Amino acid sequence: MAVKKVLHLGDPRLYLPSQEVTDFSDQKLKTLIRDMLDTMRHHAGTGIAAPQIDVRLRVVMFGFTTPRYPDMGDVPQTILINPELVVLSDEMDGYWESCLSVPTLRGYVKRPSKIAYCGYDLNGNYIEREASGFHARTVQHEVDHLDGILFPSRVSDARLLAYESEAGYSDLKQQVAAGIFA
Ligand code: NI
Repeated sequence: MAVKKVLHLGDPRLYLPSQEVTDFSDQKLKTLIRDMLDTMRHHAGTGIAAPQIDVRLRVVMFGFTTPRYPDMGDVPQTILINPELVVLSDEMDGYWESCLSVPTLRGYVKRPSKIAYCGYDLNGNYIEREASGFHARTVQHEVDHLDGILFPSRVSDARLLAYESEAGYSDLKQQVAAGIFA
């Protein structure tokens, strides 16, 4: 068990690009994935990317359930190495995102609703999928980490960044749902 420190918003290391994995047999890759799983579970996250624990390799995981999110819907539990994605639709969906590197904050982020993505599992097997809805969102959020992008950079209006604990947050959510910030 190795729970690593999660880098938080404001740490410049989160804005550095990550490098491709070249050796799938490297024991360090297995250790990294173990550390990512342990850290993600410790913080009750549903996904995590390697740079969040200060390792700049293109490794992400997503679709993991937690007591807070017991149902991940159609998001398959996935460990993905060297991911690539393409946008398949101009249609955008909005959602209040959260992130282990941005604790207590939520941001309303619009992202393409349909993508295709590919990459490799821990054993080097090729994975290729199409995804929509929350599945597409979670892949885009995690892959963004590998390019040094955190979700606040994707929030179109700074007013749509909010403390989840703030009493007015529910009012803000209602206003967004009503299209007031459209
Ligand atoms: Ni994140």
